[in-house]
Formats: sequence, structure tokens, C-alpha cells
Amino acid sequence: MCILGATGSVGQKLIRLLHDHPWFEIQTLAASDRSAGRTYAEAVHWLEPTPLPPSVSGIKVVSVDSVQECDLVFSALDSNTARRVEPLLVAAGNSVVSNASAQRMDPAVPLVVPEVNPDHLELIRGRNGGCIVTNPNCATVGLVLALKPLVDRFGVEAVDVTTLQAVSGAGYPGVPAMDILSNVIPYIDGEADKLGEEPGKIFGRIRDLTIEPLPMTVSAQVTRVPVVDGHLLSISVKLGRSATAEEALVTFEEFKSPLEGLDLPSAPERPVVMLAGEADPQPRLHSGLAGGMAVSIAQVRACPVLDLRFVALVHNTLRGAAGAAVLNAELMVAKGLVNR
Ligand SMILES: NC(=O)c1ccc[n+]([C@@H]2O[C@H](COP(=O)([O-])OP(=O)(O)OC[C@H]3O[C@@H](n4cnc5c(N)ncnc54)[C@H](OP(=O)(O)O)[C@@H]3O)[C@@H](O)[C@H]2O)c1
Repeated sequence: MCILGATGSVGQKLIRLLHDHPWFEIQTLAASDRSAGRTYAEAVHWLEPTPLPPSVSGIKVVSVDSVQECDLVFSALDSNTARRVEPLLVAAGNSVVSNASAQRMDPAVPLVVPEVNPDHLELIRGRNGGCIVTNPNCATVGLVLALKPLVDRFGVEAVDVTTLQAVSGAGYPGVPAMDILSNVIPYIDGEADKLGEEPGKIFGRIRDLTIEPLPMTVSAQVTRVPVVDGHLLSISVKLGRSATAEEALVTFEEFKSPLEGLDLPSAPERPVVMLAGEADPQPRLHSGLAGGMAVSIAQVRACPVLDLRFVALVHNTLRGAAGAAVLNAELMVAKGLVNR
């Protein structure tokens, strides 16, 4: 198995999640020409809270252009490089699981959150040769997991969401300290568009080997805030049929993971966790719940403008990126779409 973009912010999380993974074994680490030829320990500016695993520190980093056959490839490349490199790897017969946005909205490419639309993986069944499966934007993952119980029970017609996004979402070194400290930046390039278009595809249906999006209007205002990890989302929704805040609360609490019984190593027992504190959820306190793989929700109440409002929190580099890709790969294994 290979990790592309292994030296970046998401790549380091992939290393942390995969170095002792029970199903996958890291063989190749790839990054830019700046890193190629150096050992991983020399090339990386390690930012994880756990030590650099000795099993990977001595691996020689290669250029992404030299990667050919790896069976399973995790990609944490920037979007421009991904747009160039990932299709070549697919054409060469590899299965690529990508964090990058380059191919997410291609109607023939599955954009998957395992607890929301596991059936979309069927798009790659029976394909000869390689394939690509993508995971959504880091804030989209939190939004669709939070909406899933409501979509299933009441339908959701429209969403108004304001995000407060952590700096790790911009990769490393990311946003200059002089811009973000003691400040909020009400703009992240391309992010509002991703939040606007990805949920409809994720909640869509397979038809004629492509995805027909669910007609759901999403209005998104995004902000960058001086938080390290954890995107907070303030969400208001217009439901398909009316429901009280109490009914919505019960719906969230009753939501069961469709992955139950599959024994996927990275699947949280409860992907949606309800918190009861009046000031919950908070990035520093709650983004690490269930190993960073659960979305926490609180403050469910009636909305005087739409129907319902609440606050959700997602760990952007775990549930929103590296953990999302690893869980997608595990589901692909469970469905017999890729070998361990
Ligand atoms: N951070 C998040 O919360 C998050 C969430 C969801 C999705 N994503 C997506 O995940 C991807 C990675 O994000 P990140 O935050 O980890 O970015 P990052 O910290 O900037 O890391 C980028 C990685 O790509 C490599 N790279 C850059 N330019 C390259 C080139 N020209 N050729 C080959 N390799 C190149 C870098 O290698 P060098 O170290 O050698 O330069 C590094 O390993 C992006 O597509 C991002 O949009 C990120």
C-alpha cells in the first residue's frame, strides 16, 4: 500500500492511522521532489502528538511520479497534483482512495461517507483495472453525518450552514499566524462551493452508473478561526415534513450506524454522538470523541426561520480526511472491492 502526500498534514494522520493497521501495510511513501530521496524522518515536519513510528521513519520517500503498482493507494495530495497523478494511477490498475477534491464531483466517481452512502461504492464493482473512491471536504463530512438521521426520517430540503473551521484544514504551514491569531477570516477559497454541491451528490441515488444528486439547497458561509483541530458547524434545516425539536433529538439519538456487524477497524460504534451541555460541542473538548471519528451534536432546537437548528462538530483531519479515507478503504475490503 502507498501513501501519496505522506509528508503533509493529512499524510501524517494517514501514517498514524495506518502504521499499525490490522489490514493494511505501508510499503511506499511518496511526496514532491522536495522530499524525494530523503528518509521519511528527514523529509517530514512531524506534527502528530504521538512519536513518529520507527517502522516508517527510515523509509525512503519517492516522487509521486515514480509510483506505479501499489494495489491500494491513499492520496493526500493537493488538488492540482492529484488531478494530474491520480488518473494515471487508476489507468495503471491501482485502487486510489483520495482526500483531494479533484475528482469528487465526477458523477461516475463515488464520493463516500460509509455511514451515509455505502451503496455508492457499487459504482466501482465489476470495473476492470483501477478505480478511484473519494471522501468529501472536511466540513462536508460533518454536515452530511449530522443531516443523515434527519434525511432518513423527515427529508431535508434546504440547509443554511455557517462553519468555524480549524487552521489544520489548510494543511501545513497553512494560514500565516499573523493573519489568524486573534482573528476570524470569513473566507476559505472554494470551501463554500464544496459545501454547496457535495451533500446533494452524497445523498443522491445511483442511476445508469452515475449519481443523480438529491435536490437539496445548501447555503454555506465559511470562516477560518484560531483553532488547531475541529470544524464547528452552526446548521439550520428546512425539513421535508415538519418535526419538533424533541422528535429530531430522538431521531439523532436513535441513529444506528449501518456499518454495525461489519467489524471495520476504524468505524466508530456511534458516528453521531449527542452532547447535552448548554455550551457543547467545543473543538478542544470534543473533536477527539471516538478517536476523532464521531460527529458530535448539541443544541437541537426549533428554528424560527427554517424548521430546526443545531450545532455539530467534526475532527477535520481525522473524520474529515485521513480517517474518512481509511474507513472508505476498509469498507471497500468488506465489500470485496479491493484486497487487503
Ligand atoms: N487538512 C484537512 O483538514 C483536509 C481535509 C480534507 C481534505 N483535505 C485534502 O487533502 C489533501 C492534502 O491536504 P493537507 O492538508 O495534508 O496538505 P499539505 O499539508 O499541504 O500536504 C500536501 C502534500 O502533498 C505533497 N505535494 C505538494 N505539492 C506537490 C507536488 N507538486 N508534487 C507531489 N507532491 C506534492 C506535499 O509534499 P512535500 O512535503 O514534499 O511538499 C505534501 O506531502 C488536499 O487535497 C486537501 O484539500 C485536507
